[in-house]
Amino acid sequence: MDKTKQDQLKKEAATKAAEIVENSSSLGVGTGSTVAFFIDALAKRKERENLKLKHIVTTSNRSKKQLESLGFKVDELSQVDDLDLTVDGADRVADNLDGIKGGGGALTLEKNVAINSKKIIWIVDESKLVHRLSGFALPVEVLPISCEQNFKRFEQEGLKPRWRLDENGKRYVTHYGNYIIDLACDPIPAPHGLADYLDHTVGVVEHGLFLDMCDEVIIAHSDGRIEEKKK
Ligand code: 5RP
Repeated sequence: MDKTKQDQLKKEAATKAAEIVENSSSLGVGTGSTVAFFIDALAKRKERENLKLKHIVTTSNRSKKQLESLGFKVDELSQVDDLDLTVDGADRVADNLDGIKGGGGALTLEKNVAINSKKIIWIVDESKLVHRLSGFALPVEVLPISCEQNFKRFEQEGLKPRWRLDENGKRYVTHYGNYIIDLACDPIPAPHGLADYLDHTVGVVEHGLFLDMCDEVIIAHSDGRIEEKKK
């Protein structure tokens, strides 16, 4: 699929999600190019219908900047009790709605916002769909203090680690000053087993396996269908 077509599909999924957002609700807003379309669509609703939200929390400075430039007030997650809904993108979505996220490097805040939301909706174009989690290296955020040991251990475990690099070829640094190791094991053999291993590895801050979390995926298909796939 070429980028223009993919962007069109991302926009369609994003526009559909923006229609679902309820007045006076507390909203989590994710990160990425699909979410950027969602923020634009939300701003149009604000203009057209005077949509008002109780709280907005977001998962990156990029999304925060865009929201603020469109007149939304953005709160910190720690200032808000509960979010009614979080809308985010995803890098891969399996048949059972498990996902891989973190392609944009915002996985830690994305997971924290997600687990504090009553409902999670992902917005994707059809190219993100897979039967089992595969086709995208799994992002793992690690503390600099023990990252070399983590990397070696992942190699020994056959997880095919690669350092994520920035546009200058240096190690990519996250919002929290950590590094990202992308695990190129593909397909992910046992997502729950791997998630459990990573959850118990000292030095791992967070990983991009989002399992049993998503309630609904809005999928824009190239034949024009907008599918709302629910858990
Ligand atoms: C960022 C993410 C994004 O949601 C994911 O990478 C999808 O991005 P895009 O909408 O640009 O395809 O997880 O960390």
